[in-house]
Amino acid sequence: MTGAAVQISHLSKRYSDFVAVDDVSLDVAPGEFVTLLGLSGSGKTTTLMAVAGFVELDAGRIAIDGRDIANLPPEKRDLGVVFQNYALFPHLNVFENVAFPLRMRKWARPAIAKAIGRVLEIVSLGHLATRRIAELSGGQQQRVALARALVFEPPVLLMDEPLGALDRSLRDQLQTEIKRIQRDLGVTVLYVTHDQEEALALSDRIAVMAEGKICQLATPDEIYENPASAFVAGFVGESNFIDVTMQGQNGPLATVAPAGIPGALFTATPSPAAQPAQAQAVMAIRPEALRLAALQDTPPCNAIPGRVALREFMGATVRLTIDTELGPMIVRDGRVSEAARFKAGDTVRLSWNERDALLFPPR
Ligand SMILES: Nc1ncnc2c1ncn2[C@@H]1O[C@H](COP(=O)(O)OP(=O)(O)OP(=O)(O)O)[C@@H](O)[C@H]1O
Ligand SMILES: [Mg+2]
Repeated sequence: MTGAAVQISHLSKRYSDFVAVDDVSLDVAPGEFVTLLGLSGSGKTTTLMAVAGFVELDAGRIAIDGRDIANLPPEKRDLGVVFQNYALFPHLNVFENVAFPLRMRKWARPAIAKAIGRVLEIVSLGHLATRRIAELSGGQQQRVALARALVFEPPVLLMDEPLGALDRSLRDQLQTEIKRIQRDLGVTVLYVTHDQEEALALSDRIAVMAEGKICQLATPDEIYENPASAFVAGFVGESNFIDVTMQGQNGPLATVAPAGIPGALFTATPSPAAQPAQAQAVMAIRPEALRLAALQDTPPCNAIPGRVALREFMGATVRLTIDTELGPMIVRDGRVSEAARFKAGDTVRLSWNERDALLFPPR
């Protein structure tokens, strides 16, 4: 099996006067794993279902390996599809569920047995072929749905929140498995989730969606380190936001005045949507980019005093909420870091590097 290229160009879909998908274009390379990530209602499912053939387009073109599929019914598109609710036949056993797409395609009985034997090994269900769906755990049912989508060796796999119904540890385990299967088989995956950790862990590239549009398309690292807007900085990972006024720009850095502290100035890094002087902007800093020290240390620039309001132990990391003149700020650091030693009530100094303070147009 080899993956196919998926080309979505200028896709739009309205429901009466509501625009659910607004001029979305997305090229997925053969064998690539691309995730649509966005809030509820942002148009992820509508986009995926348009590719699958369950939603009719108002405008745009969808092509698989260069071939326009807009006029083909779903079953002729040859795409593997995994829905959130799995849509399995509960009264049939695992073998019969996985056999369904092959019988639809009129495969011969020996070929069906061989393909199912192989795919059940891939999803680690070989020992449960004769078990009824109703007698399987949620994670096992999810694997059956995956096996059924993969069994006819489709060049493209579409998955809509396939792990949504599962608990965290099972999700983590199946995420690793989905990634391994995708790599081993070379299948192209278009994946939908509203879980940003899942998107970061699985994807070669992420398309962040809001209000029917793609607002950033990039690798997980790029999206996390260089978000295109304040919205993306807040939606993918956590960010502290500070309202500022631009004062001036000096090479790659800008001087800004925070709204909350009269007379104070910080330096920060403007995003490509650079702001003119005197414009309002928002400064975003990741919780792990903030450093904590005892208040009496010599203050560097880009620092403010604060008091620890809350200390939450998260396991590998510690998350502290610091009350400051700029409002509450979140700090995250390792369990054995200097920051982790502070307790609720301690007075502290918060500081950051200008390269970690990104400036965006206001939200
Ligand atoms: N059949 C329909 N009729 C009318 N409006 C619809 C229909 N299907 C979807 N919508 C609307 O289109 C918008 C996008 O829906 P879509 O299902 O694509 O969102 P989503 O990003 O998948 O959200 P979620 O994360 O909640 O699944 C929503 O506002 C939804 O209410
Ligand atoms: Mg959806």
